[in-house]
Amino acid sequence: MPDYSKVPVLILLGPPGAGKGTQAKILEDRFGLVQLSTGDLLRAAVAGGTKAGKRAKAVMDAGELVSDEIVVNILKERLRDPDCAAGIILDGFPRTIAQAEALSELLGSLGTRVHAAISLEVEDDAMVTRISGRYTCDGCGEGYHETFKRPTVEGTCQKCGCQRFRRRADDNADTVRRRLVAYHAETAPLITFYKGEKCLWTIDAMGEIDAITDALHQILRPIVTEVRGARQANKNLRTTQMEEAQ
Ligand code: AP5
Repeated sequence: MPDYSKVPVLILLGPPGAGKGTQAKILEDRFGLVQLSTGDLLRAAVAGGTKAGKRAKAVMDAGELVSDEIVVNILKERLRDPDCAAGIILDGFPRTIAQAEALSELLGSLGTRVHAAISLEVEDDAMVTRISGRYTCDGCGEGYHETFKRPTVEGTCQKCGCQRFRRRADDNADTVRRRLVAYHAETAPLITFYKGEKCLWTIDAMGEIDAITDALHQILRPIVTEVRGARQANKNLRTTQMEEAQ
């Protein structure tokens, strides 16, 4: 398990289509963080035919939430990977109070906590439009939208040059509506949960992608700097202590 004691731990909250994945990928590049999307991890488990993937598939296709047990175990496994030591941005996790409590317990055992949970505030009707127009590059997973984010050269991914694209099985209007119901019933209470933890920010996510990135940047830059600064300060202290001991 990497040393988590001084790495930024950030959460993006929001309903399906709020832009969590879009923004998490941008922030990953900007701050050198690792995006952890439980949706992506579950889709990989489904594609890989694992036991968890087999149990999750029908639930995901129906637009419902996969069991806390499966999701928490998948996330715990991913947190063992050394790249997470750069700092993590959680996208689509936690999604229930039970998951949030499991995360707090896990992070506490690793000597850390959630540093910021940002809720992307949007309108439900717009989410159906956003999701029904979404597609991703088959090669690198870069996300696009028929109206809001087309590749610069039509039919070619601007990140990797691939010309194959795909759509998610659960991205149809009926399933999106069921996912929105699940969001309001199970996930929206996390806004109050993280307000109680004193690490909640909310931003209006109905604007353009760049404007939302700017708003996120304003909030996250000082937090990431402070957490990493503490890590650096600790390293300096350890070096000084070692030098003094010699
Ligand atoms: P998951 O993959 O997490 O899907 P989701 O939460 O429904 O979120 P989306 O990926 O659909 O939306 P997003 O907010 O990332 O939006 P995006 O940036 O792509 O989960 C899928 C399923 O897995 C769940 O239903 C559940 O079954 C299961 N699952 C996952 N995690 C779980 C958990 N923790 N517990 C239990 N079950 C779990 O943007 C959408 C589109 O809009 C894109 O085309 C984008 O280009 C465009 N767009 C983005 N921002 C803007 C903007 N500002 N203006 C215009 N267009 C925009």
